[in-house]
Amino acid sequence: MTSAGSAALGSRPPGPRGDRWTGNLMAYEEDRLGFLLGLRERYGAVVAFDDRTTIVNDVDLAHEVLADRQRAFAILGNFRAERVTAHQAGAAVEARAAMGPGLRPAAITHLGPQTSRLIEQAFSGAATGASATLDPIPLLEDVLTRVTYEHYFGADWSTVRPVVGRLLTCLAAVFGSPFALPSFIPTPSRLRIRLAYRAARAAVDPLIETRRRTREADDYVAQLVRTKQLVGASPARVADLVIGSLLAAHRIPALGVAWALLELSHQPRVQHDLAVRSLERESPDAPPPLALATILEAVRLHPPTWILNRTVTRPAVLGQYEFAPGDQLIISPYVIHRDPTVFERPLDFDADRWSQTTATRGFLGFGRGLNICPGQHLGLVTMTYALTAIVRRWRIEPDPADSTALLEDPRSSLVPVHPAIRLEPRRHREPVDATSPSGSVVQAVDRPLTSSTRWENLSQTACLDTPSDFPI
Ligand code: HEM
Repeated sequence: MTSAGSAALGSRPPGPRGDRWTGNLMAYEEDRLGFLLGLRERYGAVVAFDDRTTIVNDVDLAHEVLADRQRAFAILGNFRAERVTAHQAGAAVEARAAMGPGLRPAAITHLGPQTSRLIEQAFSGAATGASATLDPIPLLEDVLTRVTYEHYFGADWSTVRPVVGRLLTCLAAVFGSPFALPSFIPTPSRLRIRLAYRAARAAVDPLIETRRRTREADDYVAQLVRTKQLVGASPARVADLVIGSLLAAHRIPALGVAWALLELSHQPRVQHDLAVRSLERESPDAPPPLALATILEAVRLHPPTWILNRTVTRPAVLGQYEFAPGDQLIISPYVIHRDPTVFERPLDFDADRWSQTTATRGFLGFGRGLNICPGQHLGLVTMTYALTAIVRRWRIEPDPADSTALLEDPRSSLVPVHPAIRLEPRRHREPVDATSPSGSVVQAVDRPLTSSTRWENLSQTACLDTPSDFPI
């Protein structure tokens, strides 16, 4: 149990009771993000949503839950939106340790240049002519999934991507819906998920089996199946680890870059600085540190994974409150990232803040603790290279037909409601104005940062666990 100090413990935190029949559900459904932000403002650190669901808005308590040193707060669901036991959840966390080595920075350095090349091709194909207005998400998703799937399966990537993509589409109908029925009830959505999962297994199982039996392949999955955690594991366990992580990698990184582009379309000065810095780099591919800061800031302000859930698995104390097994805890990186006591001027898009090591204390964009995102490096490398490849070649402007910029749709991941941007080709290799209109970002983010010191600064306090050889 965690310590609650000397104050008396309570069992129900403050919070609105809501409507007699539906409690707070309808108000939440009408405006999920606004409702949660309002709860933090009105009720503070720990808020009761209903009798079994509590929202943890305090960043230190959120760390306590996510670190889960007491083994009392687990993710009791799998990627198929089915309930699992605490024992199964523990086994999944253990198996996940196998994922680390092949996703660390040293193992993925080649993915950055590959991303640049594919982005350049994809956007050049789509943005022909003097200027083009387009939705960048499908292009980004196409490139970033290709890079990831190829890392996993080498030349076999193209047989896996469509089936996992289809599974994700089926899952999206159930995930994020508060009205989804339990997974054992055979609704049409559940049947579609079951069929899509079966198709994914049919594609992935033989590829995994070959990698277990032979040494022909030298891709990430081939390394994965040889790790000590997975030698002897059942085919289902290995396949679920692979499919689950591909699902997690499928859409989210594209959303991260899309948010960065949308923000930059309203931030000509940061964009200018980024273009200047990227054209100054010795290697034509290598992103400047400001690109990383821009991505982190986009993920801070618009975290694609904006809500995290945990189930209490044994009697526990958090802050001043007691929780019983079965209670649900909700942590929203979106809400915490917009807390003025955690981030100064939280609503400002300010890449500059990433030059301060303290900026990362409250950053939960990749989660924390036991279930921290194992793909964070891969995500950051590919997103940073993608952003740089676009900004180097095109000026990003808001879609002239859209005045409702930056609206967020939180039905599943945090998706831009109006993702379109306008791309204006930069006159290639035009001499860029070194006296940037924005002194501060360049000075604070670029000047003091050699690639390694900058990265260490960020990673020591952030979510990032193995920082030293990040390739920028
Ligand atoms: C923009 C990029 C990404 C973001 C913002 C992101 C965010 C997150 C977050 C917040 C979590 C924690 C969920 C929780 O605590 O409940 C998570 C978990 C996870 N992420 Fe990512 N992710 C990204 C990219 C990736 C990539 C590229 C991969 C795989 C290559 C990946 C694989 C996973 C997996 C497997 C988990 C589940 C970990 C577990 O439950 O033990 N993610 N991610």
